[in-house]
Amino acid sequence: MSELSSSAAKAVVWDDVAKVYPGGHQAVRGVSLSVARGEVLALLGTSGSGKTTLLKMVNALIEPSSGWVVVRDRCSTEWDPIALRRSIGYVIQEGGLMPHLSVLDNVALVARVQGQPLREQHSLAASRLELVGLDPARFGRLFPRQLSGGQRQRVGVARALAASSDLILMDEPFGALDPITRRELQDEFRRLQRRLKTTVVLVTHDLREACRLGDRLALLHEGELVQVGPASAFLQSPTDHYVREFFLDAAAVDLPSKD
Ligand SMILES: Nc1ncnc2c1ncn2[C@@H]1O[C@H](COP(=O)(O)OP(=O)(O)OP(=O)(O)O)[C@@H](O)[C@H]1O
Ligand SMILES: [Mg+2]
Repeated sequence: MSELSSSAAKAVVWDDVAKVYPGGHQAVRGVSLSVARGEVLALLGTSGSGKTTLLKMVNALIEPSSGWVVVRDRCSTEWDPIALRRSIGYVIQEGGLMPHLSVLDNVALVARVQGQPLREQHSLAASRLELVGLDPARFGRLFPRQLSGGQRQRVGVARALAASSDLILMDEPFGALDPITRRELQDEFRRLQRRLKTTVVLVTHDLREACRLGDRLALLHEGELVQVGPASAFLQSPTDHYVREFFLDAAAVDLPSKD
């Protein structure tokens, strides 16, 4: 377990992990990667490159076929999977909301599971809804089916923020939003992440988003990790032709400078 000797400052380590799905498709091939505590790592790659598979190994929704995933210095197989999942914020593209709970109760869910008093659950949930630009007085009582796709996504982000977790996994969390709302929510999220020093693994197709939010980027191609580092390193010294092409294609955009 090569990366483990220096794992004390790591929130997550993937150590030579592979995933072969039933039917034989090899979705992840020998990936070794880590996320420091308080860091935002953006997982980038084309559709089917293995991003979601890697992400779901962290909260034990997917078990690696070989290799190890270490979360907060403990191998994922040593965690009680339910306890592990409760300790990690998780935002998926569709929001992943409970249809029979109101928006406010959806956001308050983790606080409730953690046994916080009702009043605190609801005031925390309301403040997180405000943070993602949804008025709790207007939206709190609605059910997920009464929201637009982008609003549901924002509730999903609010819920992960309300979990007060030190680790959040995000799978295309801002994909359904218009550019202006997306930018606002990204900025708000980044501010809060810096303040709370939350560790974040963010899956995205969007190079701008990866550069804006990620301290480091990890580019996957057909299940292999092709390069990892700050955005500037990808631009200045791409490791190979694929990396250069990926960035040139995506960066017909002018890349944002990091503030
Ligand atoms: N449960 C499964 N059974 C079989 N194959 C799967 C399963 N889940 C994913 N795969 C395959 O593994 C590969 C990687 O899937 P994964 O969901 O990790 O990709 P991704 O990078 O997240 O793609 P996208 O950007 O489209 O979400 C794909 O080829 C996918 O078809
Ligand atoms: Mg995916």
